[in-house]
Amino acid sequence: MFLVLLFSTCLAIIIVRQYLKVRKLPPGPTSLPLIGNIHQLVYHTWRHKGIVEAFDYFRQTYGDVFTIWLGPIPHVSICDYETSQEVFVKNGNKYKDRFLPPLFEHISGNLGLVSANGENWAEMRRFALGAFRSMGVGRDLMEERIMVELDARCSEIDASSIDGTSVVHISSFFDITVGSVINSILVGKRYDEHNKQEFLDIKALFDANADLFTVFDLFVPVWFLKKFFPSRFERFVKGVENINNYVSREAMERYEKMRSGECPIDPEDPQSFVEAYLLKLEEEEKKLKEEPDRMYTMKCLRFVIGDLWLAGQDTTTTTSSDESYLSPT
Ligand code: HEM
Repeated sequence: MFLVLLFSTCLAIIIVRQYLKVRKLPPGPTSLPLIGNIHQLVYHTWRHKGIVEAFDYFRQTYGDVFTIWLGPIPHVSICDYETSQEVFVKNGNKYKDRFLPPLFEHISGNLGLVSANGENWAEMRRFALGAFRSMGVGRDLMEERIMVELDARCSEIDASSIDGTSVVHISSFFDITVGSVINSILVGKRYDEHNKQEFLDIKALFDANADLFTVFDLFVPVWFLKKFFPSRFERFVKGVENINNYVSREAMERYEKMRSGECPIDPEDPQSFVEAYLLKLEEEEKKLKEEPDRMYTMKCLRFVIGDLWLAGQDTTTTTSSDESYLSPT
């Protein structure tokens, strides 16, 4: 009897707490404690034949701003331009404190672009956007860079044709093309037949970590992962470290060459994202003598580069090689 009473009381508390949280958020399907709306999400993904279609169903049912609970974490979707503009552009400062998966936060220590928050994140984001703009992103210059890359890629295909026939795997083609553009912005070097293995190594490191990672890891506290899944946790942490070490090795070399005076950077004309960052790092070092006060550090740069690869590669490849864009209509 006591156990039943205890169980009912706990259940009532959990349900009331969930209800109180839900009340403060935009509408959405009824959520359950702990699992949130996962069950409805799975059901509607199956029913409407895709996750995008499932979200579209929720939008039609609950309006342009709705809440979906991904397990115990509420996720507010904003689907119209005016509200997005209002929230993220006009009131961007109010939304600087975002939810970060505890595991990511633990690994990055609030460094980088994807897994950082607050002032540090806002500063890196501001810098990255500015540096990208000066490298040509959002302007004709970027289009030119991409066209140069595509021309070079097509010449390689022509050169490898046998009896006038070439076999091209679309996703690998876009993979390396996108990787090459990203790398040429980051460190000023594209991938060709001679150094293509470097790109394949980066891709393999990211793929290996993605295979280890599940949605479950997004929400659970770090102590839980350490206690119950110690080897997977260690492998994931090591995986991120390996990725960051690999993708930032040229930045480290560039830093050494700048420091030793072997190859100074022209402050008026940085040739890559990394060069722009190193200039900023030097500038900040002159202003702030204590390292803990500085936002621009080599440790932070390693995370920034890792995050740019992570956020830029697969998203762009998947979009460019989507068959619905490629097939003739
Ligand atoms: C078609 C291609 C792309 C798509 C669909 C895409 C989509 C997105 C989305 C939806 C987010 C927001 C994620 C969130 O809710 O936090 C995001 C963030 C981000 N994207 Fe992209 N992206 C693309 C290409 C790129 C490229 C090429 C880069 C850079 C090389 C990039 C860098 C970033 C970064 C750094 C963030 C994190 C920003 C932050 O948290 O402040 N993305 N992207």
